[in-house]
Parts: sequence; structure tokens; C-alpha cells
Amino acid sequence: MHLAIIMDGNGRWAERRGLPRTAGHAEGAKAVRRTVEAAAAANVDTLTLYAFSADNWNRPAIEVTALMRLFRRYLMSETQRCIDNGIRLSIIGRRDRLSPVLLKTIAESERSAKDGAGMHLRIAVDYSARWSLLRAAHLASERTASVDDLHGLLDRVNHSPSSGGDVDLLIRTGGEQRLSDFLLFECAYAELLFLPCLWPDFTEVEFQSALADFASRERRFGQVLLAKES
Ligand code: IPE
Ligand code: IPE
Ligand code: MG
Repeated sequence: MHLAIIMDGNGRWAERRGLPRTAGHAEGAKAVRRTVEAAAAANVDTLTLYAFSADNWNRPAIEVTALMRLFRRYLMSETQRCIDNGIRLSIIGRRDRLSPVLLKTIAESERSAKDGAGMHLRIAVDYSARWSLLRAAHLASERTASVDDLHGLLDRVNHSPSSGGDVDLLIRTGGEQRLSDFLLFECAYAELLFLPCLWPDFTEVEFQSALADFASRERRFGQVLLAKES
């Protein structure tokens, strides 16, 4: 199962407590750790987390800097935990706008956590689905690739070492009901789940109830399902 999560609501979590937005992001990092563990235990094959969108560069510089620092710190502290748990770690998205020091940390983390045989954890940073589609289409036009190759090309432009494939369940916390340029192609038949819960408040309880909700959905992929025989 491919689970994707738009981790939204950190800023509001902090603002409601009279704290700077960056405090919400720090708290959100704890929810990431919890969720990665819960997903690995639930036999999720691929977990793709939206950490920073291409449009998030337009936020105040102080917030962008704090997010980048937090992300680097997360990689430095969590890579070993990924290795210990057999989790394969990749960062997806553009690479041309990240700082050299962050790129170095990403390279080290990916190198040391590339052989995990368990869950594939993909963290999307400077990610834009539309940009990826345009880049992939450009590559496809240069080599007359078939439409079937688009998944592979998308993974290539996003630096994902293996295909994330179609998303089965997309969760967005924070109450908004939109995709904000995340995995537009891969979510063609994804089940969508929008939760009011702010990301730092997302715990194992919310995670398990999301999985139960997903299990109750009837996925039809455009077909007519025959009634089950009793
Ligand atoms: C999501 O939380 C984290 C990032 C986009 C980096 P937000 O920072 O968007 O939180 P809200 O939506 O303002 O509450
Ligand atoms: C989407 O959240 C990006 C991430 C969670 C990383 P945003 O908060 O940036 O999205 P909008 O602006 O509400 O659409
Ligand atoms: Mg937001």
C-alpha cells in the first residue's frame, strides 16, 4: 500500500498557543517520527510525506530557514533509526534550489539508508507535481517515451530511486480539502481523507482510524463490481 500524507496545520497549532509558527514545525517533526513508526508497523510499502512544497519558498525567509534547518536536523537524527528499522529513505523533489550543506546531508542519509528491505519512506522537499509533470513530459518528448513510462520519468525527475507508483490513500491534516500540487498524477485513483486534526496532533489513534476508514472504502477503478454472493 502506498500512503501519502500532506502534513498541514503546524502554523495554526503554534498560533493557537501563542507560539511562533516555527514551534509548530518542531512539534510536527515529532508527529513525523510517530507516523513513520506506525506506518512501518502497519506494513505500508511506501510512505510519501509532503514536507515542503515548491510554493513554500514564498513564505517569510525566517520560516523557510527554520524549516530547512529542522529538516536537516531530522535527517541527521532519524537516519540511523531508519537503518535500524529496515526503512529505505529517499528525498523526492527538486535538488537545484537546496543549500549545499543540506544536499550533503541528503546524500549521506540516502546512501546509508538505501538498502532497507522494509518500508520505503519518501520525504517530498521542494516538490511540485506540476513541475515534475512538465519536466517528465519534456524528457518524454526528447526520447519518444510511451505514456507508460511516465511513472518512471516522474520518479526520475523527482530523484526517487524506485517507483512510488499509484497512491492508495492520501491523507491531509489541517482541515483544508485540496491537493496543493502534491502527487497529482499518482493520485488518479487515490482514496482521499481530509482530517480536521492539525498535524502536530496526529497520533497513532488518528493513524489507525484513517486505516480503518480506508479499509471500509470500495475502490472500483471505473468498473462495475459484481454483487458479492451470500
Ligand atoms: C504544514 O504546516 C507544514 C509546511 C507547509 C511546511 P503549515 O505551516 O502550512 O501550517 P498552517 O497551514 O499554516 O497551519
Ligand atoms: C501544503 O501545505 C504543503 C505541505 C504540507 C508541505 P500548504 O499549507 O503550503 O498549502 P496551502 O497553501 O494551504 O494550499
Ligand atoms: Mg498550511
